[in-house]
Amino acid sequence: MPFQFNFPNPEEDDDEKRSQGAGMDSISQKECHTTVTEEKAISTEVKIESDHQLNCEIQTVSYDIGKDLKVISLDTKLVEDKLKKEVKGEKTNSALHEALLSDNDLIPDKYEGGLKIWECAVDLAKFINTKSFTSKTIAELGCGGGLPGLCALKNGAKCVLFQDFNAEVLTNLTIPNVLLNCEENKEQCAFFSGDWKNLPSALQKSETVAQKYNVILTAETIYNTKNYSKLLDLLDFLLEDNGDMQFESQILEDNRFTSSICWTQSQGISREILHLQRKKS
Ligand SMILES: C[S@@+](CC[C@H](N)C(=O)[O-])C[C@H]1O[C@@H](n2cnc3c(N)ncnc32)[C@H](O)[C@@H]1O
Repeated sequence: MPFQFNFPNPEEDDDEKRSQGAGMDSISQKECHTTVTEEKAISTEVKIESDHQLNCEIQTVSYDIGKDLKVISLDTKLVEDKLKKEVKGEKTNSALHEALLSDNDLIPDKYEGGLKIWECAVDLAKFINTKSFTSKTIAELGCGGGLPGLCALKNGAKCVLFQDFNAEVLTNLTIPNVLLNCEENKEQCAFFSGDWKNLPSALQKSETVAQKYNVILTAETIYNTKNYSKLLDLLDFLLEDNGDMQFESQILEDNRFTSSICWTQSQGISREILHLQRKKS
């Protein structure tokens, strides 16, 4: 879907105001505020369940990625509807609960918009499909449906770490998408939820998931200036010394990386893919 700024001002620090803006009426705003932010910030590995395939009953949408490659995703609207039904009436403190009961595309620090396939995820997937990823290790940050990561996997990637703020996104959308597109490669995938700032410590604790990656992908994730330094710190942590990364966003002012635009789309809303590399010391 096209990028729409249909969410509260991300610069807004006042959580109380955000909750009011979200039009949340069936659960206590304070109740949600206290536990949800911390709970969501923790980085946790989400595993593929043995019966995970059952979540794939929902209709699918096929994305034409080019070079005869189609990537299939669960229909995100239907995933949202399913989750809405599940939380309706429940007094849960789930961060996603608040978002699902409101009309916002995201609620900063609670739900970060991963339940939709945003336009630049498709751009990035198409761009990736023009490259070879044979034996590369990939991390997709803020993956949502995970189209770019899936494309890298289909183009020979050795492993893909999918990260999204909300565990529910990984469970209900990203993992089913991996199973729909490349079930045979599921052992090569890992899934982590939580805030970017907490991913390094979660990876350091993991005995099975790598900490360093050749290529880092991220699409439509840089809308909140408060997160710029968090993301750059994470890129610095994850990126192999000789690795590189592509992502669509604004040029960031930081002296650890150089950036160049490697793809542009000027029709309609203009979009770009940035290519960042470590600065040579
Ligand atoms: C608008 S969605 C884009 C999803 C997907 N990349 C796409 O383009 O379809 C933004 C994503 O950024 C991620 N994100 C944003 N801020 C984050 C943060 N502070 N920590 C972790 N993830 C964050 C969330 O995982 C969320 O899914």
